Amino acid sequence: MLTMSTRSVRLVCLLICSLAISKTDSTKANELLKQEKHADHAYFVDITIVQNAVSKGAVCLDGSPPAYHLDPGFGHGVRNWIILLSGGAWCRNTTDCLNRSKTDLGSSTLMLPFIFLGIFSKSKTENPDFYNWNKVFVRYCDGGAFTGDIENVDSATNLHFRGARIFDAIIEDLLAKGLKDAKNAILSGGSANGYPAMLYCDHFHSLLPKAHRVKCLVDAGYFIRVKNPLLTNVFESIFKDVVTLHGSTKVLPKSCTSRMKPELCFFPENIQRDIKTPFFTVMSAFDSYQVNSIIGSDIGECIQARNCTENQNNAFKELRSEFLRALPKANDPKQRGVFIDSFNHHTQLELWWNKINATPVNNLTTIKVFGDCYYDRKYSYVIDEHDLPLPVYLYNNGTLKSRG
Ligand SMILES: *[C@@H]1O[C@H](CO)[C@@H](O)[C@H](O)[C@H]1NC(C)=O
Ligand SMILES: *[C@@H]1O[C@H](CO)[C@@H](O)[C@H](O)[C@H]1NC(C)=O
Ligand SMILES: *[C@@H]1O[C@H](CO)[C@@H](O)[C@H](O)[C@H]1NC(C)=O
Ligand SMILES: *[C@@H]1O[C@H](CO)[C@@H](O)[C@H](O)[C@H]1NC(C)=O
Ligand SMILES: *[C@@H]1O[C@H](CO)[C@@H](O)[C@H](O)[C@H]1NC(C)=O
Repeated sequence: MLTMSTRSVRLVCLLICSLAISKTDSTKANELLKQEKHADHAYFVDITIVQNAVSKGAVCLDGSPPAYHLDPGFGHGVRNWIILLSGGAWCRNTTDCLNRSKTDLGSSTLMLPFIFLGIFSKSKTENPDFYNWNKVFVRYCDGGAFTGDIENVDSATNLHFRGARIFDAIIEDLLAKGLKDAKNAILSGGSANGYPAMLYCDHFHSLLPKAHRVKCLVDAGYFIRVKNPLLTNVFESIFKDVVTLHGSTKVLPKSCTSRMKPELCFFPENIQRDIKTPFFTVMSAFDSYQVNSIIGSDIGECIQARNCTENQNNAFKELRSEFLRALPKANDPKQRGVFIDSFNHHTQLELWWNKINATPVNNLTTIKVFGDCYYDRKYSYVIDEHDLPLPVYLYNNGTLKSRG
């Protein structure tokens, strides 16, 4: 959320982040969202603070307990669970993490009710395959993508690096609330937390012996290690700092760390082949977070104005081909489905998961393709053929509209 640039996202962030939400305010915010976003079925869900996680040392950066938002399933969905690990980049040094610990990305004392929409919508037409599931939005407050596990509290700052313990404590809490009897389940994660949705995918599966279908879903979190000198290999240096600061190495897969440096095991491309549970990747080949990080933070402007230079276009083409090479191969879509569009946006499960905002590929949407794959109706490996980014337009009335 932090890094998205369109006005509509800021609008929603304003609604989510800055309202002191009373019942009246949330009704007002809901009305606004409905008008502005065509998000007719958006609703606020209260926060659940996991108090008993504290005794396990599973705490946010500032030492406060971790938290999630749970909306119970209904009808045929009562034994189906989708868990979404919310995104929000990483903090890589104590200055950065201290700053973060004073926001809702580092402290549950600052978290408010959260808006549910998209794949968390309760509308059968908008969200046909998951509308009646138990829906859990896990708040991100450790800064290390749920991988940290350092016993000592930083004495100078009182910071805690305990993301891996948070993941365990939250799942344990949910198991007791009915997740253990799940029939169908999805572990998903957006942006920075697409990675832990892969990292913990098999472990999550192993906790649900009664389930018929367990699959994982990575939303705009397949960041790559670029090799071409036209591009900046920025994620490798970020991951090196994150792994060091948060003590992540021990939770990374041994099958990877035995072959390469731990920071390289933070790249999805280097752990994907050892995951046994099916997982699905949704992302744009020109994901705005990845493009901004690797090509330049203001690159979105020329994409929107359709006047990028030849050098910039070459960088896009190179980034795209490196990205496609890093993805799981096409030969086993049952285990490794993908939906790769070309729009310059970031994440698809929330604002973009409805008929109006969906960013299609050949008339297909993520909603249909992922739903078909999850329910074993049809497996797909969908990659849009455009080799340059498509702009995402935002109309004055707040409607986000994508155009080819
Ligand atoms: C901490 O990280 C931020 C970026 O995340 C960077 O701007 C800053 O220079 C770093 N500070 C130190 C002391 O390394
Ligand atoms: C600290 O956080 C604020 C937002 O809370 C942000 O605007 C600012 O840039 C951050 N400063 C650093 C040094 O990261
Ligand atoms: C690209 O188009 C935008 C909008 O028309 C304009 O503001 C910008 O100056 C143009 N950039 C270049 C490099 O021509
Ligand atoms: C796209 O899908 C819609 C609904 O399934 C269909 O009505 C339409 O004809 C399709 N368009 C193309 C170009 O395939
Ligand atoms: C917003 O503007 C677009 C483009 O002009 C239009 O198609 C759409 O219907 C408008 N939406 C609303 C709610 O007015």
